[in-house]
Amino acid sequence: MSKVKVGLVGVGSVAHWGHIPAYQADPRVEITAICDINEERLMATKEELGVKEAYLDFNEMMAKSDCDVISVATWNNSHKDATIAGLRAGKAVLVEKPMAMSAKEAEEMNKVAKETGSLLMVGFCSRFSGEAMELKKLIESGHLGDIYYVKTGYLRRRGNPKGWFADKARSGGGALIDIGVHALDRSWWLMGKPKPISVMGFSWNKFGDYKSVGDVYSADLVDEESNFDVDDHSIALIRFEGDKTLFVESSWAQNIKESYGYQEVYGDKGGAKFHPLELFTDLDNNQVNVQIPTRNVTLHTAEVKHFIDCYLEGKETMNPGEDGVTIMKILDAIYESARTQKEVLIK
Ligand SMILES: NC(=O)c1ccc[n+]([C@@H]2O[C@H](COP(=O)([O-])OP(=O)(O)OC[C@H]3O[C@@H](n4cnc5c(N)ncnc54)[C@H](O)[C@@H]3O)[C@@H](O)[C@H]2O)c1
Repeated sequence: MSKVKVGLVGVGSVAHWGHIPAYQADPRVEITAICDINEERLMATKEELGVKEAYLDFNEMMAKSDCDVISVATWNNSHKDATIAGLRAGKAVLVEKPMAMSAKEAEEMNKVAKETGSLLMVGFCSRFSGEAMELKKLIESGHLGDIYYVKTGYLRRRGNPKGWFADKARSGGGALIDIGVHALDRSWWLMGKPKPISVMGFSWNKFGDYKSVGDVYSADLVDEESNFDVDDHSIALIRFEGDKTLFVESSWAQNIKESYGYQEVYGDKGGAKFHPLELFTDLDNNQVNVQIPTRNVTLHTAEVKHFIDCYLEGKETMNPGEDGVTIMKILDAIYESARTQKEVLIK
């Protein structure tokens, strides 16, 4: 059987630590084409991977390359156009989170996926963690009962990736759309994707171009000047149909002891949290806590494997474009609520 030909649009950080190793680990595929607007990075990656096709423009890549599937891992402001170009050229598309800059863009992408019948998967990689997968199974087998409250967060003491991430015109937002989106999406998925009704959101930009030594993200971007016109800390309370509520918080910079992430899920039969994954429930009127064993999973490897499975087997993806649209609607509403200081209804 001939191998699935893979094209990469955007060969920056996550392409290098996430997508490339994941495709290289899958014997069913080969990377045949790459694209990046940064010529130096494009040529270095061409050399590194030994691929023949390298493009500076994704429209040219879609017109000329016979690749079957693509990963879109560019700045957020080109997710929509690169994805649509791929779908229209008949390619299956895995687009990084956040799906787009806004719900309007995400809806456009999803509409083209439906029109063309091409596979569109959103890179919500957090769903693939061993803990998230096991917790989802516990929820689906009824161990937590009716889930009515979820709390989650992705918090960094100092971790503003700077560069384009902190430039609203290219990112669409800061900590919330960058890392809060993982916690938000994973929670919403664990809750069984309830319909969002309204949002109260709060955002701050307190640190800007902080000078204290901290973690470095996207190392090749730290020297780039940035506008810092985005949130470095956001929180939100989201109300869903069925009397369900989600609290989500995310920060790139916050005066906490250390960076951490958490997930808590509360139902009327049991509660659960990670890390590690623990279940809190009653057994014959005794309160019991159970630590659930989980697998160590490389998120992008699991995500890419699922993408290729769906492509080859014609299966529906567990991360469809519709999910990306709903998450973008919630993100839009959080930012709007923070700006207007009012509760925002989601249609
Ligand atoms: N799932 C995750 O855990 C995860 C982690 C990091 C980043 N991401 C997402 O991946 C995307 C890329 O992030 P990154 O950290 O790799 O950023 P990066 O800046 O390191 O890499 C992005 C690359 O895209 C290129 N690019 C920008 N616009 C382009 C265009 N129009 N056409 C072709 N190339 C273009 C840039 O030159 C750069 O090389 C973002 O959407 C980000 O949110 C996801």
